[in-house]
Amino acid sequence: MIVERTRTSGAWLDLREPADAAARDPELVERLGRHLSSTGCLVIHDLGCGTGSMGRWLAPLLPGPQHWILHDRDEDLLDVAAAEPPGPAADGAPVSVEPRPSDVTQLRPGDFADASLVTASALLDLLTRDELTGLLGVCASLGCPVLLSLSVVGRVDLVPADPLDSRVSAAFDAHQRRMTERGRLLGPDAAAAAVEGFRQRGVEVLVRATPWRLAAAEADLAAEWFTGWIGAACEQSFGLASEIDSYARRRLAEARAGELAVSVAHADLLVLP
Ligand SMILES: C[S@@+](CC[C@H](N)C(=O)[O-])C[C@H]1O[C@@H](n2cnc3c(N)ncnc32)[C@H](O)[C@@H]1O
Repeated sequence: MIVERTRTSGAWLDLREPADAAARDPELVERLGRHLSSTGCLVIHDLGCGTGSMGRWLAPLLPGPQHWILHDRDEDLLDVAAAEPPGPAADGAPVSVEPRPSDVTQLRPGDFADASLVTASALLDLLTRDELTGLLGVCASLGCPVLLSLSVVGRVDLVPADPLDSRVSAAFDAHQRRMTERGRLLGPDAAAAAVEGFRQRGVEVLVRATPWRLAAAEADLAAEWFTGWIGAACEQSFGLASEIDSYARRRLAEARAGELAVSVAHADLLVLP
C-alpha cells in the first residue's frame, strides 16, 4: 500500500487553470444552460473545488444570479477560492461564493438543500469505487444536473514519441489505481465507473472527450506535468527510475524548451435529469 499524498498544491492548480479552461467542453455548458431555471438564484455546489477554478470558468458562462458553495477538505485552498471568486454571470448578474470545509465522500442529500447544479473538476480519479458509488447515489437523489469535468482517462500522447513513453504511462496509471488506507483509487477508471454508476440508476450521461493539448505556449505546464508524471511512475515501479534516467532528463529538457507536444486525455460528463 502506498501512503496517500494528501494535499494538492495551489501553485499546481494555478498553473493548470488556463489549460483546464481550454479543455472543458463548452457544448455541454450550452445544454446545461438551457436546462437550468431562468428564475431565482442558482445554487451550485462545487465538490473538491481546490482554488475555485471551475467556478471562475463556469459562472461567467451561465446566466442569472448564482451562489456557489465551494467544498474542499483543504482549508488553505478554500481560502484562495474565497479570495478569488468568479466574475459576474453571463448576463452581468452577481455571483457569490461560500467556502465550506467538507469531505465530499461524507456529504448527504441534506447537505445539498436547494441545489440547482452539482459540479466537480479533476476529482473523480481521487476516489475509491465505494466513495464514487456513494457520491453518485447522493447526486442522483437530488434530481438536479451534475457536471463532472476533466476526469483523466489514462491516455497520454507525447510528440515526438519515444519507446519508453508507454512504459512510464503504464506505471503512472498503476500509481493512479494505487491501494490506499481508504481502498483502491479509481484513477483512470473513474469516468467509466461514473457513467456506468449513473446508468445503473437509470440516469443518462452525456460524455465528451476533453483532452489537454499542451504545445510550446504551455511549456511551463508541460514540464511540471511531466515531472509529476514521471515521479509518480517511478514511485510506483521499483527500479524504473534507474532505467529511465537519461530518458527523464532528455524529455524534461524537451518539455521545458517547448519541443514536446503533450496530450492528456480527459472526459467531461453531464447528467441532465
Ligand atoms: C486535482 S484537485 C482539483 C481542484 C479543482 N476542482 C480544479 O479543477 O482546479 C482535487 C481537489 O479535490 C480535493 N479533494 C480530494 N478529495 C477530497 C475529499 N474527499 N473531500 C473534499 N475535497 C477533496 C483536493 O483537496 C483538491 O483540492
